[in-house]
Amino acid sequence: MHLFVVFLLGVTTLVRPIQPLDLYNAENARYADFPRRRAGHRLAAEECVFVLATPHSGSTALMDALNQIPNYLIRGENWAAHYNLFNAYQRMSSIPQSPGQSYIHWREHRQASFHTVKSLYEAQAYQRKLPFFHEFQVDRVLIATRAYYKVLFGHYGNGVVAGFKETRYVCGTAFGSNQCSEQFSAYLHFLRRTCIRTKVFLLSRTDNSVHANPDIFEPLTGGQKLLAERDLERTHQLYDDYVRNNPEHAFRVHMEGMFDHKRNATLARNILTFLQEDPFLPIQFTRMPPK
Ligand SMILES: *[C@@H]1O[C@H](CO)[C@@H](O)[C@H](O)[C@H]1NC(C)=O
Repeated sequence: MHLFVVFLLGVTTLVRPIQPLDLYNAENARYADFPRRRAGHRLAAEECVFVLATPHSGSTALMDALNQIPNYLIRGENWAAHYNLFNAYQRMSSIPQSPGQSYIHWREHRQASFHTVKSLYEAQAYQRKLPFFHEFQVDRVLIATRAYYKVLFGHYGNGVVAGFKETRYVCGTAFGSNQCSEQFSAYLHFLRRTCIRTKVFLLSRTDNSVHANPDIFEPLTGGQKLLAERDLERTHQLYDDYVRNNPEHAFRVHMEGMFDHKRNATLARNILTFLQEDPFLPIQFTRMPPK
């Protein structure tokens, strides 16, 4: 009987799909403003700047403009390195909720010492088999994530603002068409927790129409094209809404503004002001050769 229950538990644990972590529930809200002293400032990059962009919207030009700020290093596409970190974070954060953990109220033992954890083990070990015993904790996953980011991307130390630009964070690519809004929010939330201070640029063309985005839509036909139209429209909405709701750490850029000689000097100053840099630093969106 006992063995059968353990077996069932084992099977259900194995086949149970990995739940995407709900980053907004009460349990996780606590970590949203993860105290700096607990993360340890040496384990987290101080300042990060990320550029999330729709394809063919001038993200390399924006990246190059930001890289003209002396202490900035914004990398190009990172082939999902950071997205994989996000996925790992979500999966690892769901481990404490796994069914094999329910016989101990781990939440009450978040700060438990090694000695206490061993005692908890000892208290159970005579009563049951403990194949899933572990004291895995979500806040450590966050610390580990920050350390990983810091070592890979933020290793030049304080004073250097490091980040990347990526065009995969759009509906239909990194984020599923049907859950784009949830996944976008979760990812932005994650970006903000990766570093002590995070700033985000959300870049696209001004207009999300087929006509205004020939590079995206030209290769597509039929249903694929319709879906892509919906995805791009949704992405624009998400970018707009996010910046409207988070102006202190998010800034909306439209590609056309970077190349319009009447407006681009103002845009450059606004970007520098947003970054709390000298607004008169000479940065240019048009330094690179056209494609
Ligand atoms: C604005 O655009 C003009 C014309 O393309 C260019 O010469 C100038 O350098 C640009 N200014 C900035 C700040 O990029």
